[in-house]
Amino acid sequence: MKQVQQNQIGVFDSGVGGLTVLRQLKQQLPEESFLYFADTARLPYGTRTKEEILQFVREILTWMQAEGVKMVIMACNTSSALALEEVRQEFPFPVLGLILPGARAAIHQGRSIGVIATPATVASNAYQRAILEADAGVEVFQVGCPEFVPLIEQNRLTDVYTYQIAEQYLQPLLDRSIDTLIYGCTHYPHLNPVIKRILPPAVKTVNPAYAVAIAAEKELQLLSLQNTNSPLPTRFCVSGEPQQFALLSQQFLGEHPHVEKVSLQSTHLPACRFIG
Ligand code: DGL
Repeated sequence: MKQVQQNQIGVFDSGVGGLTVLRQLKQQLPEESFLYFADTARLPYGTRTKEEILQFVREILTWMQAEGVKMVIMACNTSSALALEEVRQEFPFPVLGLILPGARAAIHQGRSIGVIATPATVASNAYQRAILEADAGVEVFQVGCPEFVPLIEQNRLTDVYTYQIAEQYLQPLLDRSIDTLIYGCTHYPHLNPVIKRILPPAVKTVNPAYAVAIAAEKELQLLSLQNTNSPLPTRFCVSGEPQQFALLSQQFLGEHPHVEKVSLQSTHLPACRFIG
């Protein structure tokens, strides 16, 4: 009989952003199997309302539950900021988000912290709250970067326009002389080479993916959920066009993945049953 320890860890994002988290998870937990879901049909998440994000996250977690995951990592800051607290009690497996691990990692790096994130994450103030709760003595400055996710999903990582828009987004943070910058959206580490060219060398960058991978390892240990068998290959699923995701993710994964299209609707509980 299959033990729960052998089950996959679910990882989800709106698109290729969560691959930056999957990379860290695979490095930190090489013995684990992963199920990656990208909600590409409804991307970007960063300009959605809280109600929409809550609905999408509940649908994804319900589907992942039916797939038999033992834990879920929200590899999406927008979902972590807007939905984690409300949905984590609704499912029988641990659900981890990026905000708290990212905030804690940042206060160990600096005293003047910049956050770049989606408009929805910035508007939620989730990073600011988490940082100031951990250390009220630091300064936090946030900038919403609405154009980054569409540019990354269109594979325009090296465009001159991408560089120019990155300069515009970062300038207000540089004016505040930040010493630390949080990548508050999992898509943004894909722009690391561009952002590093703009930041002064003394400014440290924080990718919350490192911290969430360590948190996931601790949680697995605590709950005795570590896999002791050989890991399975990662299963990639999307709600949109599989071929498009496969092509784009190839450069980040270093291989052409097999990608399945899934419909979250099919795992919905029946809304209503009429009797008689
Ligand atoms: N990568 C996600 C995040 O971390 C979602 C970005 C989007 O779809 O706008 O926020």
